[in-house]
Amino acid sequence: MLVHAKQTMFLVILCYLTIKLTSVSSDSQCSKVTASRTPKYHLMEKCYRSSLGMIAKANYTSLTSCQRLGIEKKGLSINFSPPEARDDGNMATEYTCEVLRCAEADGGLSLVNDSRYDHYSIYAKPIPHVNSTCVPAIGMFFIFTKRMNYSNGLRECKNLSGIPADVTTEQRTESLAQLLAGASIETAFVGLKSKNGSVFVSSSGDGLDCSTYRAWAPGFPKRLRKKYDCVIITRERTWKSAPCKNNYPMLCELIPGGPYKKGSIFTSRNKKENGWYAYSRLQHKIVFQDRSHFDTT
Ligand SMILES: *[C@@H]1O[C@H](CO)[C@@H](O)[C@H](O)[C@H]1NC(C)=O
Ligand SMILES: *[C@@H]1O[C@H](CO)[C@@H](O)[C@H](O)[C@H]1NC(C)=O
Ligand SMILES: *[C@@H]1O[C@H](CO)[C@@H](O)[C@H](O)[C@H]1NC(C)=O
Ligand SMILES: *[C@@H]1O[C@H](CO)[C@@H](O)[C@H](O)[C@H]1NC(C)=O
Ligand SMILES: *[C@@H]1O[C@H](CO)[C@@H](O)[C@H](O)[C@H]1NC(C)=O
Ligand SMILES: *[C@@H]1O[C@H](CO)[C@@H](O)[C@H](O)[C@H]1NC(C)=O
Repeated sequence: MLVHAKQTMFLVILCYLTIKLTSVSSDSQCSKVTASRTPKYHLMEKCYRSSLGMIAKANYTSLTSCQRLGIEKKGLSINFSPPEARDDGNMATEYTCEVLRCAEADGGLSLVNDSRYDHYSIYAKPIPHVNSTCVPAIGMFFIFTKRMNYSNGLRECKNLSGIPADVTTEQRTESLAQLLAGASIETAFVGLKSKNGSVFVSSSGDGLDCSTYRAWAPGFPKRLRKKYDCVIITRERTWKSAPCKNNYPMLCELIPGGPYKKGSIFTSRNKKENGWYAYSRLQHKIVFQDRSHFDTT
């Protein structure tokens, strides 16, 4: 009986060690992706509500609960009605927490005065470029339609506080292919690159072996990886390896950040009310995905 117990104990410890060792080794290789994907909502404007589409809504008294719902539903921004804003004669809110599919871009085109709510976004600083495109529940993107080599494209992305777009999930590849189609572009550089003939590495620093999804077009990646060291996404929802020195449009993914500088989202509104801003009002785009991703609760 005693022996039996000892053996069981040993097995338990062995199992524990195995699990521990396995998780440590996979953590160290692929941790960057998970770490970079837990965003934070930054207070944007008090007494404003964004009218961008809603993914989820709830009646919460605490901001933390609302933020948690936001992260769970992958909302890019939230409207939250704090308790103090609800009892000073304001019209009653239906729901205190609204989780939104997209984030406001420069100009804050969908922000409306509403003293019941405060608006929060994961893209608080810098404010997304006015011509950026939202892919609901995934992120904000910007496409440079001008063809350029990878290093010049990378520089343009960085100038917008972005990185070449991550395409390592099916949802991303499909919606970003749709984004290309919407911009009437066939292909664009994305965030997969091989250094010196090694495995392709995503912009977050993770090797492609950290994920199982692949979208290589037939015959790709080319064997000559040292020469075909970059990757382009196609409208047909596939990836192709291509030389980094060739010229293609560049697809950038904006990096969430903060804190927000009060009023900064409106500065371009005031500056150029009749110039490009009026025009870009028409240009600000949202890529609609399969609605089933956004079941409201
Ligand atoms: C949410 O709560 C407020 C008061 O706290 C209430 O007036 C409102 O009816 C509630 N909404 C729903 C949908 O339950
Ligand atoms: C919101 O209200 C403020 C002050 O009451 C006003 O200056 C501003 O123009 C209003 N903004 C919008 C978008 O209506
Ligand atoms: C946004 O796009 C429009 C149309 O392509 C362009 O005219 C405008 O200059 C762009 N705005 C900025 C700030 O680049
Ligand atoms: C960076 O972007 C600004 C506009 O936001 C532009 O004026 C500047 O030329 C860009 N720099 C480079 C190196 O592309
Ligand atoms: C790249 O590969 C070449 C030859 O295969 C080698 O000489 C060089 O040191 C490598 N460079 C790096 C940065 O690994
Ligand atoms: C991209 O073009 C620039 C010149 O515009 C050049 O200096 C650079 O080496 C090129 N990069 C690649 C990877 O070909």
